[in-house]
Amino acid sequence: MSPSKSQAMLIDGKAIAQEITENLTRQVLQLKQNNLTPGLAVVLVGEDPASQVYVRNKGKMAEKIGLHSVQYSLPASTREADILARIEALNEDPSIHGILVQLPLPDHIDSAKVLRLIRPEKDVDGFHPVNVGLLTTGLRDQALIPCTPAGCIILAKRHRGEDLSGLEAVIIGRSNIVGKPIAQLLLQENCTITIVHSRTKNLEQHIARADILVACLGRARFVRGDWIKPGATIIDVGINRMDAPEKGPGKTRLVGDVDFDSALPVAGAITPVPGGVGPMTIAMLMQNVVTAAQRLSRR
Ligand code: GUN
Repeated sequence: MSPSKSQAMLIDGKAIAQEITENLTRQVLQLKQNNLTPGLAVVLVGEDPASQVYVRNKGKMAEKIGLHSVQYSLPASTREADILARIEALNEDPSIHGILVQLPLPDHIDSAKVLRLIRPEKDVDGFHPVNVGLLTTGLRDQALIPCTPAGCIILAKRHRGEDLSGLEAVIIGRSNIVGKPIAQLLLQENCTITIVHSRTKNLEQHIARADILVACLGRARFVRGDWIKPGATIIDVGINRMDAPEKGPGKTRLVGDVDFDSALPVAGAITPVPGGVGPMTIAMLMQNVVTAAQRLSRR
C-alpha cells in the first residue's frame, strides 16, 4: 500500500450558505410578524445567459427565505434614461429594501451612473461609492458589504478561525466587485495584503507567500498547485465554463481560477467550484437585504 498523502480540507460553501439561509428564514419570519417583509428588486438588462441564471437563482432564494421578490427583465435595447427612471421608482418604493442591477450592463449604458443612482441604504451589492467609502474608512457596520467578498471572509475563517491577524493574504485580481473589496476586508481583519494583477512582475513569488490566496481573475485553472504555499487557504472565486468532451459531445463543466487537482495535495484548505464561493454570494445577498430592511425600518 502506498503511504497516504495529505489532502486539503474542502471548504463546503454550499453547506455553510445553507446554515446562513436557514437562519435568515427564521429572522424573516420574525420580521414579518412585526409587519416588516424585506423586499428585493433585481434589474436585468439584456439576454446574457449567465446573468439570466444568476438572476433566477437570486430570485428563487429570495422567495425560499420568505422575502418579497420582484424582477425587472428589460430588453438589451432599453435606453439609459428608462433604467434610471426604474431605479428612481425603486428608491422611493417602501416595499423594496434592496436593489440589485445585474452586471454587466449593455455597452450603451453608463454602469457607474446607474450604480450611483441607487440609494446607498438599498444598495445590497455594496457597489455605491458611499458604501465603498464606508468600507474603506473602517465603518463597515454602517455599510452594505459586497456579497462575494463577504462570503470569502467567512469561508477563509472556517479554515483559519476567527482571527486572521498577521496572515499574508494575496489576492489575484483587482476588480471593483471582488478583488478590491476583498483586499479591504482582509486588511480590516489585520492581514498583510498584496494585490497582484496582469501587470505584476514575479507573480509566482507573491503567490508563494500567501497563507490565504484569493483567486478572482477569471481565467480557468490559472493557479497551479506548485505555486502554492503548503498548507495555504485557497479561496477560488472563478467560475469558468470549459468544454468537457470526456462527459460527452457538446458537454461543458465549471472550473475555478485554481487548478483544483494539483492544488489539492498542497493546500491546507480549498473551496470547490462549483459549491464553494458561489452559494455564499447568494446567501450574503439575502443577508444584505434583511440588514437593509432592518436599518430602513429604524429610520
Ligand atoms: N455580475 C457578476 N457578479 C455580480 C454581482 O455580484 N452583482 C451584480 N449586480 N452583478 C454581477
